[in-house]
Amino acid sequence: MRCVHKFTELEADVGVRTEIPENEIRRQRDIMARIAEMNAAGRERLALVDTFGCQQNEADSERIRGMLREMGYGFTEREAEADVIVLNTCAVREHAEKRVLGNVGALTHTKRAKPDQIIVLCGCMVQQPVMAEKIRRSYRIVDLVFGPQALWRFPELLERVLTERTRVFAVEEEDGSIAEGLPAVRQKGVKAWLSAMYGCNNYCSYCIVPYVRGRERSRRPEVIVEEARALVASGYRDITLLGQNVNSYGKDLSEDVDFPRLLRMVNGIPGEFVLRFMTSHPKDAGEELFRAMAECEKVENHLHLPFQSGSDAILKKMNRRYTKADYLALVELARRYIPDLVVTSDIIVGFPGETEADFLETMDVIERVRFDALFTFIYSKRPGTPAAEMDDPDSREVKQARFDRLIARQNAISGEIHAGYVGKRVRALVDGVSDRESGLLTARTSGGRLIHLKGGEQRIGEFAPVEITGCNTWALYGEICE
Ligand code: SAH
Ligand code: SF4
Ligand code: F3S
Repeated sequence: MRCVHKFTELEADVGVRTEIPENEIRRQRDIMARIAEMNAAGRERLALVDTFGCQQNEADSERIRGMLREMGYGFTEREAEADVIVLNTCAVREHAEKRVLGNVGALTHTKRAKPDQIIVLCGCMVQQPVMAEKIRRSYRIVDLVFGPQALWRFPELLERVLTERTRVFAVEEEDGSIAEGLPAVRQKGVKAWLSAMYGCNNYCSYCIVPYVRGRERSRRPEVIVEEARALVASGYRDITLLGQNVNSYGKDLSEDVDFPRLLRMVNGIPGEFVLRFMTSHPKDAGEELFRAMAECEKVENHLHLPFQSGSDAILKKMNRRYTKADYLALVELARRYIPDLVVTSDIIVGFPGETEADFLETMDVIERVRFDALFTFIYSKRPGTPAAEMDDPDSREVKQARFDRLIARQNAISGEIHAGYVGKRVRALVDGVSDRESGLLTARTSGGRLIHLKGGEQRIGEFAPVEITGCNTWALYGEICE
């Protein structure tokens, strides 16, 4: 299909920068105004945005909601009354894709009852050519399909669906760009996502992300600092800088800025707030980062540092570019700078060719590091990635058994670490409601550990001293010290 935006021509104007020129953003804003005018003529129009996948997708959905609001849409949770339904999809594992397709299937009935309902599929899953084709052929109820790189053109794409009443697909392969100045509707509360960079260049052999999210590109530091300042001013207290490989920030910028420097810049914003970041890749983490974390009082004592596997042979096949010894040394160095650092990680069990001996190396890393929490996944074959071509002799049962052993051991470790909090006093940010009926709130420690505690909702947004009174594997229980 025709590529609607003329990025290659514009590139000549903006040099090597990948930022969308202001006049293009203005054009999208004009379209939003036109659609808002159209919508204002009749009854109130409603939209529903459902997000699958990671925080990057959450952040993208906030932009989609922002654009929908500017186009005059209100929001609903009920599919039956929505005029526009947006499913922002994920492709990281097969399970995520199955969930999305199941949801699309279920919308057949909704759309039959409301034939002018517009169904939009966007995000990572649809950026895969095979998947886009499958939707074109087999999911005819879907009206608009666009990948993450085309997000900023949502108004123009939606306008085409509304005015031409045709199906629109915008899934051309693109390295990606940066679109500043788009509106956002953020989740209410105290926690906000702030994208520092987009895309990934790492090509870990199992991972689909670099194929669907384009090349690494960093937002200008001054734009990030300004956005953080605005977030603090409007009451957000917990800001997470996002990137698939956030600590490679700045490599593509001509300015002299890297991730540790960015942390220091955001840390310098006045106001009471805390700063987190994810996800860091071990190959880009080092002394400078840890020194910045230790010296910046607003940067929390939490490092999410995925190691994926403890076996050097598997790490090599994964294209992770570090060894088990490198990883262990890195965590040790981090803890030297930040003694009470909470370390969490991601692990893949059952990568093609993983042997029992390889798996035991992973278990060994868990014993040595003693992570506070882990996100553990069974390997899922992603067509088009190098790992999908590798010999994978082990059965699902063998992988599941390893996975269960790992979870059991980690649960015991998390339980022990949590028990160590009991009786201690910590500073925590009260960030939401845990259970309204029993009057329980949620709070987070500096390391991101979840606390359930009693209190009135007016306390949400407060940093409070909390005495930890109990725990289980997943959470702590506490009381606010008055
Ligand atoms: N950029 C981040 C997160 C990527 S996706 C990082 O590099 O850590 C989040 C996690 O999903 C990964 O860390 C990995 O553990 C897991 N993952 C990615 N691809 C996968 C696959 N094909 N099968 C199973 N787990 C996968
Ligand atoms: Fe995927 Fe690796 Fe990039 Fe993370 S760093 S998004 S695992 S390719
Ligand atoms: Fe999924 Fe895309 Fe995030 S594949 S994990 S939504 S970057």
